[in-house]
Amino acid sequence: MEKRTSVFEAAREEPDKYGDLTERLEKSVNSAYRELRRRRETEKRKEELENAPELKNLFLGDCLEKIEKVPEDSVDCVVTDPPYGINVESGTREQIRKLRENWTYEGDDEDIFPQLLRLFKKLEPKLKGDAHIYIFTSWKAWHKLYPLADDFFDVRNWLVYLHYLSTGGDLNVYRTAASSILFAAAGDGRKIREHKWNFFDESGNYRKNGKSYHPPQKSVSICKKLIENSTVEGETVLDPFCGSGTTLVAAEELDRNWIGIELEERWYNTARQRIAEARKSDGE
Ligand SMILES: C[S@@+](CC[C@H](N)C(=O)[O-])C[C@H]1O[C@@H](n2cnc3c(N)ncnc32)[C@H](O)[C@@H]1O
Repeated sequence: MEKRTSVFEAAREEPDKYGDLTERLEKSVNSAYRELRRRRETEKRKEELENAPELKNLFLGDCLEKIEKVPEDSVDCVVTDPPYGINVESGTREQIRKLRENWTYEGDDEDIFPQLLRLFKKLEPKLKGDAHIYIFTSWKAWHKLYPLADDFFDVRNWLVYLHYLSTGGDLNVYRTAASSILFAAAGDGRKIREHKWNFFDESGNYRKNGKSYHPPQKSVSICKKLIENSTVEGETVLDPFCGSGTTLVAAEELDRNWIGIELEERWYNTARQRIAEARKSDGE
């Protein structure tokens, strides 16, 4: 009863913001009340952001060092795609050849996990108390990444995105059409924008969005969906393994702040250029 009254009162006092929730009440009191709380929480976060300084930074170097430059308690959401820590040589010979030609980073092996452990330790104080964390990974690395992340954060779900990027050719294995994202929260976490399924259909978004900048590049589209679900305009997104800057472009296009770190100069320069292009088209 109290929940129903809260929704009615909110709708009466601020019909523009909450008026539509009275219709929802007819279907489910709990759902209408949950949505009221989610909107109020979002409003509160927006108010807190008023007069907050712009925080947009791209660092060249090792994220274990550069993370020190990120202000404490400043990050609302991490969207990152570290080396998976599995042998990349799981494609066809032709794919591997192309990958090797274009990708100078040689560290895609098991030593990423001790690095991630150290990074998570340094990352924790940089996060706001209710931040969300998304880490792209592979099913092959999940069993290592999960306990590591769960020691520092609260791992909430396994997200799947469909991409159909594997060209395959080997009839001994199934071709991989989907990949994984580990979703975690700092503290109790914030609410996601709507009640969503843990599945994203990205098929088409990689090729449709045009250029290929980095071999394991992610789509701007999926980064945008994650960022939109976990932040409001003006909040800050961090990617400590930013590669060609896909997360940062997505954040820029959504008017969020962003902080990126990349070890290799070549990808750092690509990221800089992509962000500059995104800013230019923002201003047009
Ligand atoms: C999987 S790629 C990220 C690709 C990115 N999602 C994109 O769309 O372009 C991982 C990136 O992490 C970088 N990297 C590896 N170790 C790093 C470290 N210790 N600090 C910062 N960047 C690192 C690699 O150079 C590589 O560009």
